[in-house]
Amino acid sequence: MKIKIVLILIGLSFFSMFGREENISFASDAKKYVVGFSQATITEPWRLLFNKELRIEADKYPEIELLVRDGLDDAQKQIADVEEFISRKVDVILISPKVAQDLTPVVNKAMDRGIPVIVLDRDLSNKKYTQFIGGDNKLIGRTAGEYAVKRLGGKGKAKGNIVEIWGGMAATPAQDRHSGFAESISQEKGIKNLIQPKDGDWKQDLAYDIMAEALDKFDKIDLVYAHNDPMAYGAFLAAKDMGREKEIMFLGIDAIPAEGIKWVHQGNLTATFLYMTPGAEGIRQAMKLLRGEKIAPNVVLPTMIIDSTNAAEILKKNGLL
Ligand code: FRU
Repeated sequence: MKIKIVLILIGLSFFSMFGREENISFASDAKKYVVGFSQATITEPWRLLFNKELRIEADKYPEIELLVRDGLDDAQKQIADVEEFISRKVDVILISPKVAQDLTPVVNKAMDRGIPVIVLDRDLSNKKYTQFIGGDNKLIGRTAGEYAVKRLGGKGKAKGNIVEIWGGMAATPAQDRHSGFAESISQEKGIKNLIQPKDGDWKQDLAYDIMAEALDKFDKIDLVYAHNDPMAYGAFLAAKDMGREKEIMFLGIDAIPAEGIKWVHQGNLTATFLYMTPGAEGIRQAMKLLRGEKIAPNVVLPTMIIDSTNAAEILKKNGLL
């Protein structure tokens, strides 16, 4: 009988110790902050890299519980994702909006509820958010335009027919990449823009179709400026299928080593312009904010030109050559 009671007591105290352990469980206690990340889509390699870089950075902070939602390339789904974060009362929201206008009200609502929002890569229609992090798309567009002018004969003498393939027209990077480029080529009387703006929605297959139509219509195309590398590559493939790829230069944007830089190295694209993902920086800034530090309203990520002069070197550095 005595033994039985002792055993029960030992059992009980072990159980209560275990119970206490659970209450102070490392996982729940260490995770002080809930960070909600709303991604626009994961259909493009650049988005996958973005998510990967964001997760790697978040793993460095045991106090972060990270929730990631995929907007499935659909503004309505992305609005619902942010609504979910608002009702869960997360500590901070990171968002890379598919389009500006549709996502602005829900971000404004989060701010009204006292949840700080860091906007990544694509901007909104107003500045009612905590911080924006992204590349300078206007600068990238201008740099691509200057590069095009140089390759088409130089300032004041450039000559050529250009096809511009837009990313999603309702997204600010496409608008800025267009206006920056237009600024650089506008002084060149010898440069002709062949087609009316057409929305390629950042997709390789849509760009293929836009380019196939342009190739059908125009006998002489000298340069394609696409708002990202997948679309520049889609345009290249369309030209290749018609045996005309050698007479055309293709410029893209993003410069992911295994994608755009590889295509430059293979000679398919002439150049690409670096557009870093804001994944890691987004988490770093969110952590600063959560720890009570002041953060800047704007963080600009750097860019660079990648063409045949430096593509191999970058691929080597990334272990891809
Ligand atoms: C991916 C992407 C990139 C592009 C960025 C612009 O969805 O299309 O290729 O640089 O979005 O927001």
